[in-house]
Amino acid sequence: MKQVTALILAAGAGTRMRSKLPKVLHKVCGTAMVEHVIDAVQEMHVSKTVIVIGHGAEQVEDALAHRDVQFVLQREQLGTGHAVMQSVAALPDEGNVLLLCGDTPLITRETLEELVRFHEAGDYQMTVLTAEIEDPTGYGRIVRGKQGNVEKIVEHKDADDVQRAIREINSGMYCCDAKLLKESVVDLNNDNQQKEYYITDVVEILNQKGYRIGAYMVADETEIMGVNSRVQLADAEAVMRRRLIEKWMDMGVTFIDPQNTYIDKDVKIGNDTIIYPGVILKGKTKIGEDCIIGHNCRIEDSQIEDKVEIQASTILQSFVGEACHIGPYAHLRPGSKLGKNVKIGDFVEVKNSSIGDGSKASHLAYIGDAEIGKNVNIGCGVVFVNYDGKNKYKTIVEDNAFIGSNSNLVAPVTVRKYGYIATGSTITKEVPEGALSVAREKQKNIEGWVARKGLLKKEE
Ligand code: UD1
Ligand code: CA
Repeated sequence: MKQVTALILAAGAGTRMRSKLPKVLHKVCGTAMVEHVIDAVQEMHVSKTVIVIGHGAEQVEDALAHRDVQFVLQREQLGTGHAVMQSVAALPDEGNVLLLCGDTPLITRETLEELVRFHEAGDYQMTVLTAEIEDPTGYGRIVRGKQGNVEKIVEHKDADDVQRAIREINSGMYCCDAKLLKESVVDLNNDNQQKEYYITDVVEILNQKGYRIGAYMVADETEIMGVNSRVQLADAEAVMRRRLIEKWMDMGVTFIDPQNTYIDKDVKIGNDTIIYPGVILKGKTKIGEDCIIGHNCRIEDSQIEDKVEIQASTILQSFVGEACHIGPYAHLRPGSKLGKNVKIGDFVEVKNSSIGDGSKASHLAYIGDAEIGKNVNIGCGVVFVNYDGKNKYKTIVEDNAFIGSNSNLVAPVTVRKYGYIATGSTITKEVPEGALSVAREKQKNIEGWVARKGLLKKEE
């Protein structure tokens, strides 16, 4: 394969999105649309990726700052041809240019590779990625000559009735000889219905000069779906989601109800894991093998090891060790790190804390800024009092400690090994190793108090 340079047009306004966010930054399965396109071309190892920005340029540039791309600014959006004119200096003379749009997130590396292969094998100077669709309204039509060769592309708005009846459409993606593309865009004009410089006119220019134009038709037309509105955004999301879930099903993951499961592009899931309905897996989440992810879990940027069972819980930027049981209704906030066989039960919130192997907090507790050892029992209603209104402090609980129900651990404080805290205690000082600590008022009983107060009911 010759050298390929990717040129992605992303300067358009995207008016129909009715959004403050530039269109190409809207996300499909957790990734900005334009990044899906960047991923596809960079997976095929293009020599360079050039992005034309204009509308919301600063925002787009910021969002893509971490990517290996070069930006070209198109100050005024005078058409797709105009966008390419602005890019001439950024394009090499050698090899081919893969010309794409930033709002077609469903295009795959495989199809782009096939497009380039078809282009080279057929010895074409330009090849258009096309599709045959039921309703071609709005798209540019592929006009072929008597021998079936591509002659030109006519935009819907400029087409006559005969041309409008053509069902082979332009996807807006092309492979073109770099040098010829640069030479041809100079000859474009905006003499058309939209008063725009159309890149599609390059086809006719090259054809008239006797160059060979190819048309490569996609097998799966969803790949060329462009997103111009929120409705199309949801459509694209549905296609992408289905694709991702099918990939994981093929890898041995069970989805009880794929249509009600939401996963981002970078999520990874191990073999024999079962995912129940209403689950949302986001960001760089990685789930191990043989896990059960129960209904309505939301897990973001977290690592879940093998054999973990989670029910109806929220887990953010956390690590969950092997064979843990979480939920229902637990909340692991960022920076939580659980060892193996940890149990975090209902209405337990954990934040920025590590919890050692075999420890349990089964119900109704808040654990914040803590370092908890192994086999610790945290009773119902325990609060780690980590905040004095100004600063946050740390609590250390060593191995085999027992924190009785409804206790408060006022940080900074340490409970040594086998420290045993009586229920209802408010602990402000270190609990020594193996000690029982009782920190509450002793019970006193005042006999006959109720009768003296006249509070007895009549029948008694
Ligand atoms: C374009 C094609 C049409 C094709 C369709 C496929 C032209 C003239 N027509 O039409 O044949 O069927 O795509 O979806 O090319 N852009 C810029 N700068 C501009 C104008 C557009 O960067 O000045 C970018 C847009 O951000 C977008 C892409 O180019 O990513 C396509 O532009 P758009 O206006 O959506 O083209 P269509 O009218 O859909
Ligand atoms: Ca348009």
